[in-house]
Order: sequence, then structure tokens, then C-alpha cells
Amino acid sequence: MSLLEKSELIKKEFETDHLAAIDAAKPEAVETLRLAYLGRKGKLTALMEDLRNASKEDRPAAGKAVNLVRHHIEAAIDELKSMARSWELAAIVNRAPIDITLPVTEDRSVGSIHPVSLMRQQLIKIFRTLGFTVVDGPEIDFDFFNFSALNIPDNHPARDMQDTFYIDGAEKMLLRTQTSNIQIHTMMNEKPPLRVIAPGRVFRCDSDMTHTPMFHQIEGFVVDENITFAHMKGTIDTFLKAIFGSTLKTRLRPSFFPFVEPGAEFDVECGVCKGKGCRTCKDTGWIEIGGCGMIHPNVFEAVGYDSSRYSGFAFGFGIDRIAMNRFALPDLRQLFEGDYEFLGNFPIHSN
Ligand code: PHE
Repeated sequence: MSLLEKSELIKKEFETDHLAAIDAAKPEAVETLRLAYLGRKGKLTALMEDLRNASKEDRPAAGKAVNLVRHHIEAAIDELKSMARSWELAAIVNRAPIDITLPVTEDRSVGSIHPVSLMRQQLIKIFRTLGFTVVDGPEIDFDFFNFSALNIPDNHPARDMQDTFYIDGAEKMLLRTQTSNIQIHTMMNEKPPLRVIAPGRVFRCDSDMTHTPMFHQIEGFVVDENITFAHMKGTIDTFLKAIFGSTLKTRLRPSFFPFVEPGAEFDVECGVCKGKGCRTCKDTGWIEIGGCGMIHPNVFEAVGYDSSRYSGFAFGFGIDRIAMNRFALPDLRQLFEGDYEFLGNFPIHSN
């Protein structure tokens, strides 16, 4: 068979195979076709080989014919390739729709409540039974609410007690370092009597085993006529016993916060050693929980309350620290790493 005849034959065969590939409408059929003609052992490749061995006289005419067939086949296959892409899309579109009403047979794992959320829910419940309402406030705030109105003026050293994240480019704006900013927002918007708690996220530039740059606090405050230190002591003692157990002792220690006077910190007896001293309480017998005190007259002045008529107390503490203690967690950072296994240890429902 001459080269001319051979190329005619291959062209004919290709027409048939080409139509078959279109009929199949599958990307794999295009690839099979390409290999059958243009692959290393393909029909056209063999023909090119023959051409190379052809005699000098035959070569010009045969070369022309072979090249025409080659161009024809290459062009047809290129076109098929772009058709193949739309076949793929059509296959996706035409796939049987998912029946979302079918029952699920495989095992599904169910999420659980984050330990901090669990703790917050329990704490809120306790304060609700004591007649507190829950309010919210901004996490990004002006330094007026986070500091100045809380009797912490510009350049006051107490601003250094809390390593503050300031907002770049925004004059005097920051991520609140304490939920105490909610005292100011609430008092400016409402009149006494107030009996409020405010759970929320706070931010300080600090990170180690017992500090994270974001953590959770609950602020509480009560303002009315004739509110005394004894009201505060009773409230704090009640909630500590509700959380840690009624048999543990609680205590107040004198302390300083610019927005209260007198100020104190409150501790609960270490539940692990019952006050004898152990690793958990660093041999002190006590676990520090938070700060509190009688609201400073300067704070009342800043929000426009008459400090000769009203008095009140405020307290604040970290939810995460309490969760750490109640769930016996060695490292505070575990609470924020989103480790699925760790989080799976907590219940699915709160009660
Ligand atoms: N805001 C204080 C802190 O973050 C805690 C506190 C709140 C102290 C209310 C006294 C009264 O450390």
C-alpha cells in the first residue's frame, strides 16, 4: 500500500473513531482517541515514521498528504478536548440530586458546649436567681469608658497594670481591658436602682500558661440608695459557694482598683487541699477569683449620678480561671486552641 493510500485509510478510520468518541461524550474517550492516533504507538505516528523512510521521489507528494491528515486529526482532537470540558460540567449538573430526606446511617459525632460557655451559663444562672439582669457592651471602646471615667486618668500608673491593645489610627480607641467599661455605659444610659451583670471578652497583651491575650470576664454591679459593703460581701459569698461548693470558706482581702474605694480581692478556699496548701493553690490554701469594692464617688460623678445620694458596689472576675479550676485544666491556653478532642470532653447540653 502506498503512503498516499495509507494516509487516506487512516483518515477514513479516524472519521469513524472520531464519531464514536463524540457519541461516547466522555473525556476518557477523547484521550483514548488521541493516543490511538497521536500517541507514541499511534497510527499517525507510524505513518510519519514511514514517511521518513520513503524514497526521495515519493516524499514530496506523500509528505503533503500525510501532513494534511495530521493537521486534520490534530485539529479535530483539540476541538474534542474543549467539548470534553462541557461534557464534564454537564455530568456534574445532571448527577442525581442528593435526597436530603434520606435517613443518616453512618455515625455522626455531635458537638459539645465549650467549657467557657458552660461556665458562663452556670454563672449567669446563679446571678439571675439573685435578681441580676444581664447586659452587654462594646469590646472596642474609647479610653474614656475603659479608663478615664473609671477614675484612671491619662498618665495614671494604673493604665500600665493592664497591657492595652490600642487601635492604630483611631484616636483614643482600644480593645477593652476589662468589662468595667460596661459600668460606665450602663450608668450613663440608666438610672438607679441597678443590679446588673455583664459577661464579655476582654483583651490584654499577655500570654503564658495562665494568661491569654483574650479572656472572659463577668462584671457585676449594684447601685441604689443605702447599698453597703455588707451587701457586696453577701453577694460574693453566695455566688462563690454556689459555684465552688457551700462547704468552702471565702474571704475578702484589701486591694486597690482606682474605680472602687475601699477595694478588695475575693478568694475561695482551695477545693483540692481544703485550705491546707497544695500545688493548685501554690501552698496558700486559697484560689484568687476577682476584684471588688464600693464604687468610687469619682465614677458616679463621671456618669452624672449624685454620689451623696447613691452608693453601690462592683466586682469583676475571669470566667476562664473558674472554668480551669472547676474542670481541673492545667493550661489556660487549652481553652482557646480549638482542639476537637479536648473540647469533646464536655457535655453536649448544659443543665
Ligand atoms: N476590672 C477589674 C480587673 O479587671 C476587676 C474589678 C471589677 C475590680 C470591679 C473591682 C471592681 O482587674
